[in-house]
Amino acid sequence: MLNDVVYIGFPIWYGCAPNVVNSFCKGYDWIGKKVYAFATSGGSGIGKTADKLKPYVTGASEVDALLVKNADDVKNWK
Ligand SMILES: Cc1cc2nc3c(=O)[nH]c(=O)nc-3n(C[C@H](O)[C@H](O)[C@H](O)COP(=O)(O)O)c2cc1C
Repeated sequence: MLNDVVYIGFPIWYGCAPNVVNSFCKGYDWIGKKVYAFATSGGSGIGKTADKLKPYVTGASEVDALLVKNADDVKNWK
């Protein structure tokens, strides 16, 4: 189902999602959801963004992250 997939976009801060994104995620039920995080950066790569997000999306069935330059990168991703 479409609702089983959640895309989250943010700028990379200090090598991962900004804390405000982590706080946002903590407030929701992620059981069984696929979480696809897309991010812009000032030059660094996506690093361990997906692993660092995992503690805040407890129960998610999949967490993946991609560094993007434009909307097409997201459209062509999953
Ligand atoms: C507090 C802060 C931390 C940042 N940390 C990083 C970083 O670790 N690596 C990086 O490449 N860019 C970093 N940036 C740059 C942002 O990721 C970049 O400006 C943003 O992705 C570009 O999108 P924007 O044009 O919407 O700002 C940081 C920016 C801020 C404000």
